Amino acid sequence: MNEINNIVILTGAGISAESGVATFRGPDGLWEGHRVEDVATPEAFARNSDLVQKFYDERRAKLQSVHPNAAHAALAKLDEKWPGDLLLVTQNVDDLHDRAGATRLLHMHGELNSAWCLACDGRSHFDGEMALDPACPKCDQFGYLRPDIVWFGEMPYEMERIELALAQCDLFVSIGTSGAVYPAAGFVQSARHYGAHTLEMNLDPSEGSLHFHENRMGKAGELVPTWVEEVLSHV
Ligand code: OAD
Repeated sequence: MNEINNIVILTGAGISAESGVATFRGPDGLWEGHRVEDVATPEAFARNSDLVQKFYDERRAKLQSVHPNAAHAALAKLDEKWPGDLLLVTQNVDDLHDRAGATRLLHMHGELNSAWCLACDGRSHFDGEMALDPACPKCDQFGYLRPDIVWFGEMPYEMERIELALAQCDLFVSIGTSGAVYPAAGFVQSARHYGAHTLEMNLDPSEGSLHFHENRMGKAGELVPTWVEEVLSHV
């Protein structure tokens, strides 16, 4: 492995599993009892906004009873101490990386605690219930807020910034993601193409496992702190 200066880390639902947040692709193929197309598409929102709002209201309320685990804490420590460039890209809409203290963090699929107003196009911090049709904190209009979540068929956030970081990184690490959803699933190939070493940490081999130079299988709460200490021992 070459000398490491710049690191990109991609996380998915698996990193929050030990905190008690449900992953997406359970054995029954359902997400908390729903088909993804019934709750995570713009079409579903147009068809039945009440169902979609209540679904995300429940996920948002659940955030209050979960806490960052050892993997979130270890990545926040790495973020704080790493002297080179570092970008933590999460597909997760929970706020556990934020609460652990990560700052060089980007939520590519949006955030449960953010509201997007379809009237004024503004985004605001939000921790209430959208099904109650509250007013937009920015423009005061009622009935226009939607979850600031990237649904299937919509463009993930900050792709240009992510692609640039992937092109410049020496190490790409993927943690707790099934590798089933693009464009995130393709980041390993981009990083490799530009010459980065690539490492996967996951409970079981992801769909893209073969693309990684190195695979460590197990729980994020155990693997990630060990890996972070390894990396920081070279600083
Ligand atoms: P998935 O539910 O598809 O995958 C979670 C992965 O984490 C699986 O490969 C599990 O084996 C692994 N895993 C589970 N527990 C773990 C643990 N304790 N330690 C390490 N790994 C563990 O979730 P994502 O890959 O994040 O998109 O899903 C990607 C996107 O699909 C989500 O961001 C979401 C969803 O549709 C949007 O909402 C736009």
